[in-house]
Amino acid sequence: MKSRYETAKEAFIDSIDLDDYIELDSSLAAYRQLEHSISKPLKMILLFGRPGTGKSILLNRLQKKLGETREIHYLDTPAINEKEFFHKFFKVLTHKTLPQNTEVNFSALVNYCRNLRGKREIIIILDEAQMYGAEMMEKIRLLSDSRAVKFIVSLHKTDDEDVIAKEHFQSRIWEVIELRNATLKDQTAYIHKKLLKKNLFEIANSIKDKHMKLIHKFTKGNYRECNKMMFTIFEICEYYDKNEPTKISYDQLSKKIIEMAALKLGYIDV
Ligand SMILES: Nc1ncnc2c1ncn2[C@@H]1O[C@H](COP(=O)(O)OP(=O)(O)O)[C@@H](O)[C@H]1O
Ligand SMILES: [Mg+2]
Repeated sequence: MKSRYETAKEAFIDSIDLDDYIELDSSLAAYRQLEHSISKPLKMILLFGRPGTGKSILLNRLQKKLGETREIHYLDTPAINEKEFFHKFFKVLTHKTLPQNTEVNFSALVNYCRNLRGKREIIIILDEAQMYGAEMMEKIRLLSDSRAVKFIVSLHKTDDEDVIAKEHFQSRIWEVIELRNATLKDQTAYIHKKLLKKNLFEIANSIKDKHMKLIHKFTKGNYRECNKMMFTIFEICEYYDKNEPTKISYDQLSKKIIEMAALKLGYIDV
């Protein structure tokens, strides 16, 4: 028989599937900010945050919701080179695919965009934009100067490198929206809602405030880390459920299991 912990575990597999989207205070605030920024005559908007703070899922949601009324495109992975980027861009503009071996003439593309001014307003979301170099960003800026194309640029913030401080981003970005790690309140809501979506009421109830605090402490409120942590916790529960059911309580998650998961994930040293 399938352990109910298996379903719980699977609820925390990293996904940017919009069916799994959960409305949280922070994501709602960021979403509203993005929507507001788009309505202004800005050419470039920056969405900024550490990996795992929910940027990609938020951008997907924006595309889906605004896509009903606006022309909005999401480029998920950065093009490996300029040529590939301009091919994608050309397709967005003209709905035509260029033959593989053709080079896109950049100034012709800029002119094409200028001619679209007042006729079309295209929003392009560039996820993982920390991968784009200075030259590429300059070209993107030139395209946005046409005012027919707006860019939402999403960037990772890392410990060792402050990408936003890089000159090529500094001078070209007009508005910054930052996503942060979740507060305890948001993370608690996230975990509960994920489980309730799968009808796992009992399991959701077995995770008390003190457990949530501990999980928040280990994961620092990062959604990706939280997914890993919850997956591992339920993996351990699943093991006991199948092999040593007398050792777990269904009413209350044990602190020990959280610590075992933290150990496995390297949050605590042996
Ligand atoms: N509002 C949300 N609703 C549902 N899942 C979320 C939400 N925010 C983050 N997540 C989860 O956290 C993971 C990391 O989010 P993601 O958008 O990939 O972060 P980033 O792009 O900033 O690295 C996602 O795979 C998803 O499972
Ligand atoms: Mg992402």
